[in-house]
Amino acid sequence: MASSLLCFVFVLHLFCCPASSASSSTGDVKWIRTAKDTSDRLTVQTPNLTFSSDFNFTVGVTINRSLMYQTIVGFGGAFTDSASYVFSKLNSTHQAAILNMYFSEDGLRYNMGRLPIGSCDFSYNHYTYDEVRDDENLTHFTIEHDKGYIIPFIREANATLNKWSNDSLYILASPWSPPAWMKVLDLPYCPLSCLECRLKDKYKKTWAEYFVKFIEAYGGEGVRVWGVTVQNEPGACPVEYEGMHFDPETQRDFIKEYLGPSLRSSHPDVKLLIYDHNKNHVVKWVETIFSDPEASSYAWGTAVHWYSGDDFENLQSAHSLQPGKPILATEATVAREKNPENPKWEHGEHYAHDMIGDFNNWVVGFIDWNLLLDRYGGPNHAGPQECEGLIKCGSAAMILADLETQVLYPQVFYYYVGHISKYVPRGSVRINSRVTGSSSLECVAFLTPEKSIVVIVMNTGDESVEFKLADVATAGAAGEQSVQALKVQALPHSIQTFLYT
Ligand SMILES: *[C@@H]1O[C@H](CO)[C@@H](O)[C@H](O)[C@H]1NC(C)=O
Ligand SMILES: *[C@@H]1O[C@H](CO)[C@@H](O)[C@H](O)[C@H]1NC(C)=O
Ligand SMILES: *[C@@H]1O[C@H](CO)[C@@H](O)[C@H](O)[C@H]1NC(C)=O
Ligand SMILES: *[C@@H]1O[C@H](CO)[C@@H](O)[C@H](O)[C@H]1NC(C)=O
Ligand SMILES: *[C@@H]1O[C@H](CO)[C@@H](O)[C@H](O)[C@H]1NC(C)=O
Ligand SMILES: *[C@@H]1O[C@H](CO)[C@@H](O)[C@H](O)[C@H]1NC(C)=O
Ligand SMILES: *[C@@H]1O[C@H](CO)[C@@H](O)[C@H](O)[C@H]1NC(C)=O
Repeated sequence: MASSLLCFVFVLHLFCCPASSASSSTGDVKWIRTAKDTSDRLTVQTPNLTFSSDFNFTVGVTINRSLMYQTIVGFGGAFTDSASYVFSKLNSTHQAAILNMYFSEDGLRYNMGRLPIGSCDFSYNHYTYDEVRDDENLTHFTIEHDKGYIIPFIREANATLNKWSNDSLYILASPWSPPAWMKVLDLPYCPLSCLECRLKDKYKKTWAEYFVKFIEAYGGEGVRVWGVTVQNEPGACPVEYEGMHFDPETQRDFIKEYLGPSLRSSHPDVKLLIYDHNKNHVVKWVETIFSDPEASSYAWGTAVHWYSGDDFENLQSAHSLQPGKPILATEATVAREKNPENPKWEHGEHYAHDMIGDFNNWVVGFIDWNLLLDRYGGPNHAGPQECEGLIKCGSAAMILADLETQVLYPQVFYYYVGHISKYVPRGSVRINSRVTGSSSLECVAFLTPEKSIVVIVMNTGDESVEFKLADVATAGAAGEQSVQALKVQALPHSIQTFLYT
């Protein structure tokens, strides 16, 4: 992650495409709201809304379920060493609360998690799974470190999910750096330049086999790895924390010659994702790697981070180039909350804005960064020294925990992300939606596997916006068009989810 690179542009968009729909929409519409200066936080509203015949309004949100797009894979956060460490320091009441808030049916219904392969900036300290120099056959490989508190946290998360769903938690694992001995400059970090921060040729095979050992070791602990990315932020070359450099060509060749064949022969079911860095350069990576048929044959899709800004049009271009390769959002965070007791509302809007824009441009899932951090935004063994003491800090997380007083501070973006993650199950399909007549509303809509419609509408403006939500449905055997609509008031700085069949 790169909390110092939070230079996003907050542009308000009128989303998507044309309007209208098929199949009938009648009866009750359940709706859920979070709104600033109210007590609504993912709060189910009473009474239900009901569709009535059409009425005239200048602002509209229009749903056309007959235009269908990508299938959704899921939502989650990262089981970093820091998040898992903080979880392990919470008392049992709070541990249960965290599991419930993220993975239960009452919580965000998370069904994915990102897992660093070895340490990253958000680790208590530096570690790898093989510190024995030149151990080319990985005889000394061990995930002993992760058995302390990372694997127990993942197991409990999966068990919480399994209480209400037989869907597995999808674990996406990403390395920040190989053991230093595999790299040209014998260091986990990249203090000089990207050039030295890469694999030694003689250890490329060893590094590919390291992924295989990792998947097997985790499998041995009952944790199935769903997918891996080749490298976290391959273009970053971080000076102060673990990193390794690839450019599109060297990553393509590493996949083709080493990682692809190793994974295919041992774990062909594990998905391989390229890139895992900011949306600004995604098109170049997709073009370079997937235009090579052999490299492409090993890779399932593309992972992106949000630190370069919206860049939604790049997702659209990447999809157009390679419609068969799903795009997954794998990391996002905001700068440290100095006052976790008084969370910033705009972080909620930033998250939902990015998610709505991503989903409207083909993204299939969204994974947040650290699931949990302490109240200083740590621990973090690297990065800028912002806090007192030896343990450095630096990021926000949806839930910050004061370990001394044992108090949890949920941040506003917990609720905003929940407006989407909780109501859009795996296997849902994005359908057409659009806003007309307002620059402060943003929307996205889905059709769930149970054939319910889910519409998310965010108002980022300072004014209330009254709008009509219309599902242009075809009713009657004659194919007669009957337009039904809801009349809704979107409060200032609010987000609402509508559910109906
Ligand atoms: C909804 O989408 C379908 C499929 O593209 C299209 O035929 C129909 O005209 C759309 N309805 C409206 C009202 O735009
Ligand atoms: C509200 O609508 C939902 C379906 O969308 C339904 O399950 C629920 O019973 C309704 N609630 C009330 C109070 O009518
Ligand atoms: C909405 O306004 C248009 C144009 O003024 C009119 O033709 C239409 O009948 C009106 N629809 C309703 C439902 O009032
Ligand atoms: C955990 O800490 C909270 C806050 O201090 C307290 O309310 C709760 O009872 C504690 N639980 C246990 C099991 O000690
Ligand atoms: C690794 O295994 C190969 C093949 O079995 C062997 O030739 C080589 O000596 C081993 N390397 C080390 C460092 O043991
Ligand atoms: C999940 O459980 C439901 C019943 O609760 C069952 O119908 C379904 O087949 C199960 N799916 C899988 C993949 O096991
Ligand atoms: C979650 O638990 C289910 C049921 O025991 C299991 O099939 C699945 O592999 C587990 N997933 C992970 C990531 O541990």
